[in-house]
Amino acid sequence: MKIIQVYSNLNVYLILFVTLLVIVLPPSTGAISCSKASSALKKNKSIKYNDLKECLESFPLDAKLATETVDAVLHFLSSYYVFFDRAKENPPSGFTYQRVDLKNELDSLRKKFKSNYSDYDFSTDLRNIIFKLKDGHTSITNLCYQGFSYDQGLSLYSVVTTDKEKKKKQSSLISIIIFGLGIAKGVFEDTVDSSNNNCEVIEIGGKPALQTIKDFANNTIQYSKDLSVRFNMALAPSQQYFLRQFFQQFTLREDLPETSSIKYKLTCPKKGSFTLERKWKITYKDGYDVFSYNCLQQNNETTSSDKITKLTSRDKITKSTLSNKFKTSKSKVSKIAHAKVINEGSLYLLNDKSKSGVVVISGEQSKDEDDLKYSFQELKKNGTKKIILDLSNNPGGEITVALFLTSLLFSSKQPNSFPTDIIINNFTIPKIENFFKTKSTEDDYYNPNVFLSFPFGSHFNSSSDFIGTRKKRTSNLYLNVLTSDEKKLLKNVSFPWTSDDIIIITNGFCASACALISLFLSEIHNVRTIAVGGLLDDQMSFSTYPGGEIASPNEVASSAGDKITDVPGKNALSFTVREAYGFDKNNTVKDVLEYSYKPADCRLYYDEKNAKDPSLLWHEASKILHNEVKC
Ligand SMILES: *[C@@H]1O[C@H](CO)[C@@H](O)[C@H](O)[C@H]1NC(C)=O
Ligand SMILES: *[C@@H]1O[C@H](CO)[C@@H](O)[C@H](O)[C@H]1NC(C)=O
Ligand SMILES: *[C@@H]1O[C@H](CO)[C@@H](O)[C@H](O)[C@H]1NC(C)=O
Ligand SMILES: *[C@@H]1O[C@H](CO)[C@@H](O)[C@H](O)[C@H]1NC(C)=O
Ligand SMILES: *[C@@H]1O[C@H](CO)[C@@H](O)[C@H](O)[C@H]1NC(C)=O
Ligand SMILES: *[C@@H]1O[C@H](CO)[C@@H](O)[C@H](O)[C@H]1NC(C)=O
Ligand SMILES: *[C@@H]1O[C@H](CO)[C@@H](O)[C@H](O)[C@H]1NC(C)=O
Ligand SMILES: *[C@@H]1O[C@H](CO)[C@@H](O)[C@H](O)[C@H]1NC(C)=O
Ligand SMILES: *[C@@H]1O[C@H](CO)[C@@H](O)[C@H](O)[C@H]1NC(C)=O
Repeated sequence: MKIIQVYSNLNVYLILFVTLLVIVLPPSTGAISCSKASSALKKNKSIKYNDLKECLESFPLDAKLATETVDAVLHFLSSYYVFFDRAKENPPSGFTYQRVDLKNELDSLRKKFKSNYSDYDFSTDLRNIIFKLKDGHTSITNLCYQGFSYDQGLSLYSVVTTDKEKKKKQSSLISIIIFGLGIAKGVFEDTVDSSNNNCEVIEIGGKPALQTIKDFANNTIQYSKDLSVRFNMALAPSQQYFLRQFFQQFTLREDLPETSSIKYKLTCPKKGSFTLERKWKITYKDGYDVFSYNCLQQNNETTSSDKITKLTSRDKITKSTLSNKFKTSKSKVSKIAHAKVINEGSLYLLNDKSKSGVVVISGEQSKDEDDLKYSFQELKKNGTKKIILDLSNNPGGEITVALFLTSLLFSSKQPNSFPTDIIINNFTIPKIENFFKTKSTEDDYYNPNVFLSFPFGSHFNSSSDFIGTRKKRTSNLYLNVLTSDEKKLLKNVSFPWTSDDIIIITNGFCASACALISLFLSEIHNVRTIAVGGLLDDQMSFSTYPGGEIASPNEVASSAGDKITDVPGKNALSFTVREAYGFDKNNTVKDVLEYSYKPADCRLYYDEKNAKDPSLLWHEASKILHNEVKC
């Protein structure tokens, strides 16, 4: 089993499901309620909001299936979700979310299974309960209802300006980008009406614009426990490339919006004040036509799990599937005008006398480790004195890349990563013992042979070494291991830079494996960090949902030997199966990283220029790095 660290976004799963569904399901007709929505798509037109709403809400609840679904979700989360208990506690100061008692919430959902509660209502309520965790690794996606994308065709950004009295003020501006289904066609320009560009948005839906976006970020976005990071995700990021599904979530949604259009009150330099109303443009997500695949049809056939083939362990996400997916969904939106390109998208030199190089890391794939090493070697050759690591818009990847990068820059002495653990159930103990007895080297959550003990990285000598005595947890924390390829790549590399020569800059969306990298460099190697954007006058995190590792039910079930193998119906669940801990200089474990608020050392805000060109931010970072400005 290849362990994939992140990519919480279930689009990855969807792609695989589609492939399977094509093979598995017979062709069939759409239901009456869905015929208008379905025929619009067949004509390559966007779907009318009311037609889709009518379709989605037309399916009656199958109370038996819903009960089984809740049972299975509760089973998987209570047996394997590492934050099941922690989620019940109040947030630490700095984070903004509500505590969630998953058992209570799921049980109270059952009370709603009465006649006037649609399958869509159920699916939405279930999804929202899990969203409240604000854990980007943990979500449930209904493969039929979540197959659409809702686009306003414009993007918003927020700038902070300083007035004559040196008072800072935050406002939101509009930029109009027209998206096709794949790549952004416009570069911060409105091909509909460019005169709307850079107008200030005063109100949205009759409320002050910033408050509307802040509320949306607070209530609807799930990918961070830090409200400032969620605020950034509601808006357009400053980056040359970004993954659409994680950004501008206010104007590009995955769930049916509450209203069919949004009204913006704008103030423009030339046109003055006026109101712009935009309808949602609704299409299905890339390559995923829910109507053709028998999802949204009203018939009396069973919709139970045997109709929808879920991922089996055989079909696990492979590295190439992931990287291909993300390549095609990346949008190019801005220019790099103030740095010299060495390698587009990943390596730059600042065009001043600072001798600073910029390494942009946008994901953690082991196939890119060669390039990563090459990037630093290039900078060394060019006599680069200081390094800016831009880890913005990075959704994570494989855990060993985190070990690789820290080993590359510093040393590989133990501990070279944060220790982690998993939940142990009675039925997983024989699994662990068997792995140990058979000296298996299979990559598995429960195989003690593929992990090293914390802190010194020695092998486990017995299964009880690994299991320990703590209730429901492995008590001996453990570390991941570099692969032999990685060890080979790390041979004979040495770089001149110390912690003082490196600075990390992110917009807060440095998730999962990326979070583990930035946190490790910051906490253990004292590399400075900068967070960009967010809400004015708040401290802000430079990373989000470090978690430990994501898993799907069937992966865990097959590994643990669980009798329950998946969530029934059309629901794809994923959750955090491993938790990572911070530790101090004495190698004493301190905190669960997912629940620790770690604000950046320095803070920058967006303005009208750097919101469209990240190289301006790199220059700011360089000044901080050279101690020319304090932060
Ligand atoms: C819809 O668009 C797709 C891809 O752009 C194209 O292949 C197909 O022929 C179009 N269908 C119709 C009915 O226009
Ligand atoms: C069912 O719910 C809808 C919307 O929540 C409501 O408009 C309708 O009156 C309800 N019907 C019954 C029979 O309660
Ligand atoms: C965020 O939402 C929660 C729950 O609705 C609410 O209690 C809290 O006050 C909100 N926080 C902010 C800063 O809006
Ligand atoms: C489908 O189910 C509905 C109600 O559950 C029933 O009224 C209808 O007759 C059924 N249709 C068929 C074709 O069985
Ligand atoms: C980096 O250094 C090499 C060798 O000195 C040189 O050929 C190359 O042009 C330099 N690259 C940049 C972007 O300055
Ligand atoms: C797990 O095993 C212990 C010791 O055998 C037992 O006391 C406990 O009840 C078991 N727990 C479950 C959930 O079966
Ligand atoms: C296993 O045994 C070796 C040799 O005695 C020891 O160095 C190592 O620390 C042990 N491993 C653990 C996890 O205790
Ligand atoms: C690594 O360095 C050692 C000693 O400097 C040398 O003997 C060896 O050939 C080098 N290996 C590679 C792969 O360059
Ligand atoms: C580490 O241990 C030493 C000696 O026990 C102690 O003085 C020091 O405060 C500890 N450091 C931390 C960070 O806990």
